[in-house]
Amino acid sequence: MITLRDITKRYHMGEFEVHALRGVSLDIHDGDFVAIMGPSGSGKSTLMNVLGCLDVPTSGSYLLDGIEVAGMSEDELATVRNRKIGFVFQSFNLLPRMSAIEQVELPLSYARTPNRRQLSMAALESVGLGQRMFHKPAELSGGQQQRVAIARALVTQPSMILADEPTGNLDTQASEEIMGLFTRLNEQGITVIFVTHEPEIAAHTRRILTIRDGLVQSDRANTPVRPEQPDDVTVRTHTHAAAPSANGAAAATPAVSGSPSHDR
Ligand SMILES: Nc1ncnc2c1ncn2[C@@H]1O[C@H](COP(=O)(O)OP(=O)(O)OP(=O)(O)O)[C@@H](O)[C@H]1O
Ligand SMILES: [Mg+2]
Repeated sequence: MITLRDITKRYHMGEFEVHALRGVSLDIHDGDFVAIMGPSGSGKSTLMNVLGCLDVPTSGSYLLDGIEVAGMSEDELATVRNRKIGFVFQSFNLLPRMSAIEQVELPLSYARTPNRRQLSMAALESVGLGQRMFHKPAELSGGQQQRVAIARALVTQPSMILADEPTGNLDTQASEEIMGLFTRLNEQGITVIFVTHEPEIAAHTRRILTIRDGLVQSDRANTPVRPEQPDDVTVRTHTHAAAPSANGAAAATPAVSGSPSHDR
């Protein structure tokens, strides 16, 4: 559960100040599925960075599962991130020399989790990349690269996934597949929040938040459009605990399941 109250963020640019967020208040419940929209420069990425504990607000309160994170130190924020949050970026942020499986293992290495290979294989299978585990980013399509990034975000069993324009570099079909994945994750109890410029992508969510000039301009419920599901992706009726587990990284099963044979 997220509670933001009067969140502001100012950046100093020499003698100028940029007011990226001017007083954002909102609540996001566990299991919510939210799209954040708004013009370029309106503060969407700044808001995502605050939500994801990558950056601290200049003022205001941010309660994450009842704990005030607005005033936390870098180390404390890192701990919160590792326990609860998975990130996905527009540019995938994969390391060029590493295979898919090595990329997915990385967050587990930082956390010194046992059974890293096994957990990473399961995460890659869950996003339909069972047959592409030893491929490097250059040997994968854009959609497949983004699925590696999603597997990397999922492998630590976060209770929430944050994605800043996750389909921004993808064609329509790959975007639909990524939305299919996010929809399944959300159905399994994971909170999903992402930024998009595309109304057709936002249409898959249950809530659309519009940001303008650093403020929430509108916040409305949406009836989600079902994404096109590729035929060979199976959905397991496994329920992810909405509440964060005591030791998420050590839990065994990844949240989504799909056929390992699903590739394009
Ligand atoms: N690190 C920074 N230093 C200084 N100014 C920044 C920084 N990051 C963002 N800004 C400024 O804050 C404002 C909001 O930026 P932000 O990146 O949040 O916008 P956005 O809504 O994500 O835009 P886009 O749709 O183009 O990604 C902009 O005016 C931007 O120039
Ligand atoms: Mg942005």
